[in-house]
Amino acid sequence: MLVNMKEMLRSAGRDGYAVMAVNSVNMEMARAVIEAAEEEHSPIIVQMTRIQMKALAHPEDLVPMVLTMARRASVPVCLNLDHGPDYATVVDTLRMGFTNVMIDASALPFEENVRRTRIVVDTAHAMGVSVEAELGHVGQAASGDGKTEDFYTNVEQAVEFVRRTEVDALAVAVGTAHGKYPSNYVPKLDFRRLAELRDALQMPLVLHGGSGSGEENIKKAVAGGICKINVKTDAFAVAANAMKEKWAEDPEADYMEIMVAAEAAVKRFVKEYIRMIGSNDRYTFDYADNGSRE
Ligand code: 13P
Repeated sequence: MLVNMKEMLRSAGRDGYAVMAVNSVNMEMARAVIEAAEEEHSPIIVQMTRIQMKALAHPEDLVPMVLTMARRASVPVCLNLDHGPDYATVVDTLRMGFTNVMIDASALPFEENVRRTRIVVDTAHAMGVSVEAELGHVGQAASGDGKTEDFYTNVEQAVEFVRRTEVDALAVAVGTAHGKYPSNYVPKLDFRRLAELRDALQMPLVLHGGSGSGEENIKKAVAGGICKINVKTDAFAVAANAMKEKWAEDPEADYMEIMVAAEAAVKRFVKEYIRMIGSNDRYTFDYADNGSRE
């Protein structure tokens, strides 16, 4: 079933698990992700950024397909705009039927972030769509941004931000970063800050930069109040490696065989991840609170 993110993440927070959000850029990835969730009886989030939509996930073709798969699915599926850069992109995706939008004004001054987020909340909520925003800034692993404590989410500011924007989920900066960390590097997460944010906000918190963050960190983050984990780099690598392996094992492998191998590998990866963050066997929710748009 196609749902927005609000009740999906509130259930996760209440019951102490997190939902995986996988950047999916074509039909095979989206299908692998949704089927993995169905087999694990888990809620799931399919998401894409504007850049990903321009490069490969052409939304006029892919979004209707994902919405069909989501409606047909036996588990709750949310289609999320990841890192919405501006109001125009948010409105475009609302028109297309996304069920959650993220507005990311986290690189802007606090007041501007509040202003932009509030406008998106007013628009999206009027359409039954939930909203994620970001405070503090989750930067790039390649530039070592996860270590920059200046970027970390400030607890008092977060309380004010949520009060003024009425956002449904908040992405927090506590030490992770987007993309590939240097080899053998595992980020150090600020769990004390995460606990303070959880206690002060009592709402779904989101961890960006899930890739390469290490199983121990991820499990601890979920136990510490994270309800949604974004994964792109690892999912893309799983697909690419499966293709390389297929070619290595059979240099004559054709396009279809390569794609089938990638899809199967992504599905296995998502199933394992779902079990790691404890969202398996959770699919019976009460969606009365505007969780379902059907
Ligand atoms: P990774 O590429 O590090 O998994 O980050 C994904 C992400 O946070 C998307 O918003």
